[in-house]
Amino acid sequence: MLTRNEIIEHLKNDNKNSELFSLADKIREENVGDAVHLRGLIEFSNICKQQCKYCGLRSPNKHIERYRILKDDIIHTAKHAVDMGYKTIVLQSGEDDYFSTDLIVEIIREIKKLDTALTLSIGERSFGDYQAFKEVGADRYLIRIETTDRNLYKELHPNMNFDNRIRCLKDLKELGYEVGTGCLVGLPGQTIESLADDILFFKEINADMVGIGPFIPHPETPLKDTPAGSFELALKVMALTRIMLPDINIPATTAMETLNPNGRILALQSGANVVMPNVTSTEYRAKYEIYPNKICINDNPDKCRNCIEAKIKSIGRYIAKDYGFSHNKN
Ligand code: 5AD
Ligand code: FES
Repeated sequence: MLTRNEIIEHLKNDNKNSELFSLADKIREENVGDAVHLRGLIEFSNICKQQCKYCGLRSPNKHIERYRILKDDIIHTAKHAVDMGYKTIVLQSGEDDYFSTDLIVEIIREIKKLDTALTLSIGERSFGDYQAFKEVGADRYLIRIETTDRNLYKELHPNMNFDNRIRCLKDLKELGYEVGTGCLVGLPGQTIESLADDILFFKEINADMVGIGPFIPHPETPLKDTPAGSFELALKVMALTRIMLPDINIPATTAMETLNPNGRILALQSGANVVMPNVTSTEYRAKYEIYPNKICINDNPDKCRNCIEAKIKSIGRYIAKDYGFSHNKN
């Protein structure tokens, strides 16, 4: 295990990057093996009540066409994904109150009739909501802390509260979810020290999954003139996360592939063991514009499935056939 100072040193010094990536790759292999877990991602609503300054879905952005995929269509999409061989469905959306507790419960019930694990990524909700979702079979929940720097968190999330975000993570753990969190890399004002603290935070809360992505500026947000985060630095934060949390699930994120055409493969060779291909119908993809130049916006679910399978096989890895529950036994 590395100390905070050692993590900082690795993040600041680029001379040993390839050794760091190889070490993370080795630790990945020893702890979670060569299998790559695919999670089929359904982006079912881009409507969001929040105003995160980096995100294109923020409510003040009037320049995107909003959509909501209705219940039957979400279930239909999930069925198709399961037929394609996905063993996990991820339901992701903005914080859209149209999707009431009862409606999400009904959707979970239907999807859990299929042969699949289910992950939710729908933002901050009450303990009661998280409990209701768990009771009908939700297995996992993703909610990134985004940054552990409280001041930066406050600056970037008007009307939100860092302590409530922590409360969500704790509630989810307490309810027995596998919990995924993560951070952005390259936010304006973000320090190397705070990135080291992010990694220590993942360990402290005993995360089962950690997703790390570079910040990419969206033209319709207050951060439009902020330069994008560095792909290499994001990869380093990810590799160090693997070294510090050897047996968790780590996705090769879409944002990494947006900044580097080989980003997901490089991530899979530097500690990652999960990919989350988009299974949303093509008609909605371009509208889920969290950041610009997202990959696969003109592709369809079958194309993405075949594409990623070929990429994974090309590096001597294989697609897992099981549900991909976390090996994290802490
Ligand atoms: N660049 C990169 N990632 C972003 N996210 C939101 N906006 C951006 C952006 N501009 C990430 C957040 C969120 C996830 C769904 O997308 O970390 O948790
Ligand atoms: Fe969508 Fe490659 S994963 S086209």
